[in-house]
Amino acid sequence: MAAVAVSHVYPLGSRLNERGRLEVGGCDVVELAREFGTPAYVYAEDDMRSRARAYTEAFRARTERFEVIYAAKAFPCPAVLRLFAGEGLSADVASGGELHLALAGGFDPARLYMHGNNKSQAELDYAVERGVGHIVVDSFDEIDRLRGRSQRVMLRVTPGIKPTTHSYIQTGQVDSKFGFGVDEVPRAVEACRDAGLDLCGLHAHIGSQILELGAFERLAEVLGGMGEWPLLNLGGGLGIAYTREDEPPSIENYVEVLVRRAPEGVTVLCEPGRSLVGNAGVTIYTVGTVKRIRGVRTYVAVDGGMSDNLRPMLYGARYEAEIADRFGGSDPCTIAGMHCESGDILVQDALLADPRPGDVLVIPATGAYGHAMANNYNAVPRPPVIFCRDGDARVVVRRETYDDLTVRDR
Ligand code: LLP
Repeated sequence: MAAVAVSHVYPLGSRLNERGRLEVGGCDVVELAREFGTPAYVYAEDDMRSRARAYTEAFRARTERFEVIYAAKAFPCPAVLRLFAGEGLSADVASGGELHLALAGGFDPARLYMHGNNKSQAELDYAVERGVGHIVVDSFDEIDRLRGRSQRVMLRVTPGIKPTTHSYIQTGQVDSKFGFGVDEVPRAVEACRDAGLDLCGLHAHIGSQILELGAFERLAEVLGGMGEWPLLNLGGGLGIAYTREDEPPSIENYVEVLVRRAPEGVTVLCEPGRSLVGNAGVTIYTVGTVKRIRGVRTYVAVDGGMSDNLRPMLYGARYEAEIADRFGGSDPCTIAGMHCESGDILVQDALLADPRPGDVLVIPATGAYGHAMANNYNAVPRPPVIFCRDGDARVVVRRETYDDLTVRDR
């Protein structure tokens, strides 16, 4: 049999073992499926650590003034927050709930940045009382809500940059619900001062899954040209590879652009989410039924779907899939979920090796915004999260049970 390579879409260190089965973090995923059931989110811990280090090392090689801030929304779970805290990262939280998770993960509140275009008074009070380092203020109404708090804040700016990515995840354009337009910034600066807030710098996030570094160059230049500030937060957004054809810029090249284009002497903050965790995770499923419609299509149905990965339905996102112990097939298949919607398709155009009921199927690059956007449609319990390292697997979030589905009923 010709050697089949595991593509760069899979977690770092993944390989096919002697039995021809995928190994993630040294763990055989077919055995993981037996032990923990499916569907399950499986992460290689070392992948996340090494990407965190790629960020900090790329910065450290170029400047002393930087901060790498993990955007917790990509994978909001205390275990990963704890891991990144241990790697010296800061974190951004986008709601009171994410703040709660970051604190549960042991994050020093001083290293947290609080985001949101509509933070409630209760969320702001929670953040201030817990000592959140910076609140990124988003509107004049929010400045009013923080009046008299002597809180350190940054100002979210909408720089008028529209990167190439799905329109739902573009955020830097003028027509956006987020932040202050460039011409509003002087008035917002004044309003912060008037409210007694300690304004430390500007923030902008132009969008997500961005594969062109030019957009980040423009961002650094626009934000850097807006007065002298000690801190400039250039957001997140670096794209990742979802299929083997995707060749995103490296973390190092991305950091290089941010540092080179930002003004001298400024502390450069960046807020990666997806590029820290996206390729670290795969989802494993069990094939339930295989429906061959002669001359039309083969549907391979798995035991999850749009409840554990909304991205194909929401953004038309493309993924790869393989049978975990028979990589490298050539049968064109459509991977369907088990939900009551025809649109519940995970992968339109997978090439599989003779898929059969009972096979373990793996979809890579589900580490970001998978668990994060999981839901209970059709009252399907959400999958567990399993961290793998050096051949050891541990459950960091357990599978939901049927009882969990009624736990809030009164
Ligand atoms: N900072 C801010 C203020 C953000 O809004 C985001 C993402 C990030 C940082 C992190 O961006 P990243 O490095 O992960 O691209 N659910 C969508 C992604 C939404 C991103 C929202 N904001 C998806 O599944 O593609």
